Amino acid sequence: MDDTVLSLRDARLTLDGNAGPVEILHGITLSVRRGETLGLVGPSGSGKSSLLMVMGGLDRATGGEIRALGQDLSAMNEDRLARFRRDNMGVVFQSFHLIPTMTAIENVA
Ligand SMILES: Nc1ncnc2c1ncn2[C@@H]1O[C@H](COP(=O)(O)OP(=O)(O)OP(=O)(O)O)[C@@H](O)[C@H]1O
Ligand SMILES: [Mg+2]
Repeated sequence: MDDTVLSLRDARLTLDGNAGPVEILHGITLSVRRGETLGLVGPSGSGKSSLLMVMGGLDRATGGEIRALGQDLSAMNEDRLARFRRDNMGVVFQSFHLIPTMTAIENVA
C-alpha cells in the first residue's frame, strides 16, 4: 500500500527581488509517509520556511510538482486550495501574530 502523504518532485521557488529573480528552492524531491516525523535542518536563509510554506500549500511553487494526499496542489485554484488546507493541513507558526488588544475569539475571527 502506498502510504505517502506528501511528495515533492523537483520543487522550485523563484521570487522577484530588487536585483532580479532570486532562486530560493533549487529543485527539491522528497516524500513523507503517514506517521513519519521529520526535521528540516539548515543554516538561516537556506529556505526551510520557504519549503514549509510550499509543502503546506501556503505558497505556490514556481516549478515542479507538489502532491498532498495524492492531489496536485499546483493544479488547485485559490478556493480549492483553501478548502484543502482547512480539511487536511495544520500549521503552527513560529510567531502567532496575535493582536494583543483583541480577545482570543476576536483573534481567531
Ligand atoms: N518574499 C521574499 N522575496 C525575496 N526573497 C525572499 C523572500 N522570502 C524569503 N526570501 C529569501 O529566501 C531565502 C530563504 O529564506 P527562508 O526564510 O525560507 O530561510 P530559512 O531557512 O527559513 O531561514 P531561518 O532559519 O532564518 O528561518 C533567504 O535568502 C531569504 O532572504
Ligand atoms: Mg525560517
